[in-house]
Amino acid sequence: MDEVAGKILRKYPAGKKHNLIPILQEFKKQSGGLSDEIFREISNYLNIPVNKIHGVSSFYDQFRPAGKGKPQFRVCCGTNCHLEGSGQILKQLEELQKSRTGYTGRDSRFSIETVTCFGACSNSPVISINDGLHTKITKETLIKLIDSLKEDGGKGR
Ligand code: FES
Repeated sequence: MDEVAGKILRKYPAGKKHNLIPILQEFKKQSGGLSDEIFREISNYLNIPVNKIHGVSSFYDQFRPAGKGKPQFRVCCGTNCHLEGSGQILKQLEELQKSRTGYTGRDSRFSIETVTCFGACSNSPVISINDGLHTKITKETLIKLIDSLKEDGGKGR
């Protein structure tokens, strides 16, 4: 547990689950973002499964990241894209980036969001990386895009 996390958590008694919201609020305020690492710390301290903490935090807009990571991934989950498999693309992206939709890491390395339509429905599924639109995305093209981001230092197109 890092010093900041320890300082926040010690303000609250261990194992008292009803303190989850105020603890999340403090982490958000002091760290600027909520990460999987923070969720694990809170989980251990309050004895709440990590997936439950994700569920609570994703329910409230206040825990969404204020800033955007770079690169910023946006996956269309509109009807056409959904029918063409955007749900699997989103899941694969979360796995590749070891993160979840709606969160920006403390170091703002990237963020993942969903959108309802890019207006490019005939080329579904569609994602954007920073300002660049990428159409007819498959699992293979997603891997290639992420690899190319690593090569250009995360700038994206
Ligand atoms: S539904 Fe995805 S671009 Fe329109």
